Amino acid sequence: MTASPVPASLFNAAVSVLNQNWAGSHTLPASGLYPHQWSWDSGFIALGLRHIDPDRAQRELESILNGQWDDGRLPQIIYDVSRDDDYSPGASFWRSTDLPAAPVVPTTGLIQPPNHAWAAWEVHRTNPGASERNGFLARVYPRLVAWHGYLAVRRTRSGNGLASVVHPWESGMDNSPLWDEALARVPDTPQHKIRRPDLEHADAGERPSAKEYGRYFWLAEQYRDHGCDDLGGGDSFVLEDPTFNALWARSELALAEIACAIGADPSSHEQRAQELTDALVNLYDDSLGLYVARDVTTGSLVRKPTISGIIPLILPGLVHADAVLETLMGPGFLGSGPYMVPSYDMRAEDFESGQYWRGPAWFNMTWLVIFGLRVHGSHDAEADRLAANLQTLALEHGFPEYVDPATGAPHGTRNFSWTAALALDLMHSAGVRR
Ligand code: SER
Repeated sequence: MTASPVPASLFNAAVSVLNQNWAGSHTLPASGLYPHQWSWDSGFIALGLRHIDPDRAQRELESILNGQWDDGRLPQIIYDVSRDDDYSPGASFWRSTDLPAAPVVPTTGLIQPPNHAWAAWEVHRTNPGASERNGFLARVYPRLVAWHGYLAVRRTRSGNGLASVVHPWESGMDNSPLWDEALARVPDTPQHKIRRPDLEHADAGERPSAKEYGRYFWLAEQYRDHGCDDLGGGDSFVLEDPTFNALWARSELALAEIACAIGADPSSHEQRAQELTDALVNLYDDSLGLYVARDVTTGSLVRKPTISGIIPLILPGLVHADAVLETLMGPGFLGSGPYMVPSYDMRAEDFESGQYWRGPAWFNMTWLVIFGLRVHGSHDAEADRLAANLQTLALEHGFPEYVDPATGAPHGTRNFSWTAALALDLMHSAGVRR
C-alpha cells in the first residue's frame, strides 16, 4: 500500500506542532500525555528542528544535557515541577535532588536509548555555520563522552560489552513483548499509590495495563530505593536490548565524527562502535532471522520477533544484515505491504494493532528502518514508499503517536512531536542516500 502524495501543507502543519509543544528551552513530546522533557524524544525532535531552526535544535539537545548526573547518565525525563500532577511517576516520586550525584533540575533516575550524539552530529552537519558560531560541538562533546562512559562503566552488566536496561521504560518500548517473561517475575504490588493521568489523554486499550503499571512502579521503587546506584547489583530486571545498543553504536560513530571535527582523537569511538556492532551477534536469533533481547538474569535469549530486532540495520558492517533485511521484507513485517513497519510480527498470536508497543507502527521506528535500508543500499523503492507513507499519515491524522500498520488508523495521542519532526526530516532528506 502506498498512501497518497504529501500535500504541500505538511511543512506548515509539522512546524506548527513543534511550535505549540515548544516550552522555551525544549519540546514537550505531547503537551497533555507527556508534559516534561523526554530524553530520546529530544534526540528525534532535534532531527526535525535542525531544518527549521538550527539554534533551537542545539538548545533542545543542550537542555537534555543539563539534566546530566555526575556519573554521566542522561535521565529519561527532566521534570517541569509546575506540572507534577499531570504525569506519573513525577518528580515527587523520584526525589532526585536529594541525591548528591543528581543535577539541580529534578529528573528520573532511569535512562533512555542513547540517540543524542547521533542527533548532535546531524544537527551540526545540516548547518555547520550555525554550529561553529555557537561552539556547539566543542561544548556538547565532553558531555556526550561522559554519557557513553556511564553506559560502558555502569550498564555493561554481562561482560559482552552490551549495555543493559534495568526497566522497560529505559528501552523506550515500554510494553514490548520482549519484556513479558522478565516482568512476570516482578511483583505488581508497589508501595506507591499508582495514578494514571495518561488515561486522560489516551484510550486505556492503547496503553500498558494496570498490572504492567504495578510492575513498572515496583521496579522504579526498587531502583530509587537503592539510590539509583547501578554498581550495587540486585536489580530484578536486567535485559540487553538490540535497539538500545544499536543506537549506542550509531552514536559512537557520530562521536568519532564530532571528535574529528573539533580536533580530538576519534579512535576510541571508532573502536567502541565496532565492538558494539560485533557484540550484537550475542543477540542474534538464527531461527527468527533478527535480533532479540537477552535476559542477563537467566542468561537466555527472549525469542520474540519485534521491531527492536530490526533496528540494528542502522549500522554499517552488520554481520547479519542480509538475513535481517530478508526478515524485514518478509510476511511478519513488510511482506503484506503495511503502510509503516509494525512493532511486532503481524503473524504473532498476541499481535495487537492498536496496543502501544505490541503491534502498532511508530514513526521513529519507521524512520530508523528507512535509514537502515539506505545504509545498506538496498530496497530503495521500499524506503521511498515508507517515507511517503510516514509523511502522509502524519499529516492526515494530526501527527499521531502511532498507527495501525495495516490500515493506517491513528492511535495514542495526537500532535506528537517526534512524528512531526521526523516527517519534516524526511521532507528535507527525500532521496538522500546515507
Ligand atoms: N513511555 C512512557 C510513558 O508512557 C514514559 O517513558 O509514560
